[in-house]
Amino acid sequence: MQLIQAKDYEDMSRKAANIISAQVILKPNCVLGLATGSSPLSTYANLIEWYKKGDLDFSNVSSVNLDEYRGLTADNDQSYRYFMNTNLFDHINIDKSKTYVPDGTEPDSAKACSRHDEIIEELGGIDLQLLGMGLNGHIGFNEPAAEFPKGTHCVDLTQSTIEANSRFFASIDDVPTQAYTMGIQSIMLAKKILVIVSGANKAQIVADAFLGPVTPEVPASILQMHPDVTVVADADALSVYLERCKA
Ligand code: F6R
Repeated sequence: MQLIQAKDYEDMSRKAANIISAQVILKPNCVLGLATGSSPLSTYANLIEWYKKGDLDFSNVSSVNLDEYRGLTADNDQSYRYFMNTNLFDHINIDKSKTYVPDGTEPDSAKACSRHDEIIEELGGIDLQLLGMGLNGHIGFNEPAAEFPKGTHCVDLTQSTIEANSRFFASIDDVPTQAYTMGIQSIMLAKKILVIVSGANKAQIVADAFLGPVTPEVPASILQMHPDVTVVADADALSVYLERCKA
């Protein structure tokens, strides 16, 4: 695992965007695995800016997203498809028909999930998977559990995730309780993984995930086993990790 220390959120975002840019420049027809949430917002803003300057071309890029709320349509402003369109896809020259977010409108969860895994396989796998990390160490919507889930599957969201996500909804009752998410195996099959973490509230989980035991109780800890992981984290997120390294 390579750890890149960033000063703050903006520095983390520029560094992450540089890594994604390098991927797109080196392999113009690459498959990017993308995430939603607050962590990647400024990373995406940088990519848009550099695209507009003429430094990046996404015309041959495909993308797959980690997850989607079950039951939300693409035009629902809380769906992850809507997030991706408004925060990235609408502003760059990616071919939207080559951007894949799990289909939240498919009521047959087995069908929606197996289709997402098939798409990843048909694309030849993910070249670079971008990940944020939840306060409880979740990646995608893979919550702490007794076992690591494998492929894309339907999950019941934990109360802590529902609460964390409620900031995006009018009320906590509007937060969907289920989601389709890529599994740990789908994530681990990516050729390269880029994790971005910012903020003091993530400091404890960063230390647990990357210095603690590999356990499904801390889903991100599995990333210790991946051969090509880069973590870009800011000073606040690294405070406990760096203390523990010194001890
Ligand atoms: C988003 C996702 C989630 C987030 C995580 C961190 O597609 O899969 O695992 O990455 O919840 O969220 P933020 O970045 O909002 O702290």
